[in-house]
Amino acid sequence: MHVSVFNPASPQATELLWLWNVCMWVCGFVLAAVTLPILFIVVRYRQHGNDEPPQIAGSKNLEIIWTLIPLALVGFLFVLSITTARAVDHPIRREPDIIVTGHQWWWEVGYPASNAVTANEIHVPVGRDMLIGIEAADVIHDFWVPRLGRKIDAIPGRRNFIWIRADQAGDYQGACAEYCGAQHAWMRFRVVAQDPAAYDSWLNGQAAAAVAPVSGDAKLGQARFGELTCANCHNIRGINAQKQYGPDLTHIAGRKMLAAERIENTPENLKKWLHQPNIIKPNCEMPNLKLSDSDLTALTALLESLK
Ligand code: CUA
Repeated sequence: MHVSVFNPASPQATELLWLWNVCMWVCGFVLAAVTLPILFIVVRYRQHGNDEPPQIAGSKNLEIIWTLIPLALVGFLFVLSITTARAVDHPIRREPDIIVTGHQWWWEVGYPASNAVTANEIHVPVGRDMLIGIEAADVIHDFWVPRLGRKIDAIPGRRNFIWIRADQAGDYQGACAEYCGAQHAWMRFRVVAQDPAAYDSWLNGQAAAAVAPVSGDAKLGQARFGELTCANCHNIRGINAQKQYGPDLTHIAGRKMLAAERIENTPENLKKWLHQPNIIKPNCEMPNLKLSDSDLTALTALLESLK
């Protein structure tokens, strides 16, 4: 999974890279125009000691020239910045397609037009402009997918917006870009760009309620999920539906990663996570419930059944 801003995969990121390149060339030119003459003078006149050359006091022409050149450069960059900003941030004239909420330390992902709620994995259809509303539940976070667009703050109590359009199918790494506490570095996510048919079928699957297990460890796990208070924080739509505090688990087995990209989503890792979440993510909000082996097996079986 490539993450580089130098390898843009959306119209927005392409515009930003272009602006960045222009700024680099202009600023590089200024740097060279200032430092090279200084270096030349330092070397050329180093032998003369206190024997100063004739001094010039005041030159109207020089003053005008070195006022106009920077003014023209700054004006040029200002206009480019405005045109780029207009190309990146289109007007907001409708409800967002997706609402992403930053939490310490994971991302809640809701699709308001359907019931779908997931975590740390944002699916989008290739080639379609998607409007994402960005919110925060606790402290300020910052949503950033380097290959798809700019950074945008997630601020408690307000909704910001960002447009995203992935031009190629694939997974794009995203990260929190504003320090937000102990696990800031592991507050990652991914954007999964799929062809529209695959996206629609994914969205329908996510919107559906979970199928309650009918037998075995998974069935036992469903009972323990309620008894052990997991259900106080996590939703499994179709099985319980409290107000959600932690990530929605309705289709957790279908996600690629766990704990905001910290570990791969395998049955072994899931079990390790349930056993000692604070070893995998120190200070995370998920408590260590000191689960017994049989509870670990039952809960893992339940969660693995939630495709
Ligand atoms: Cu959330 Cu840094």
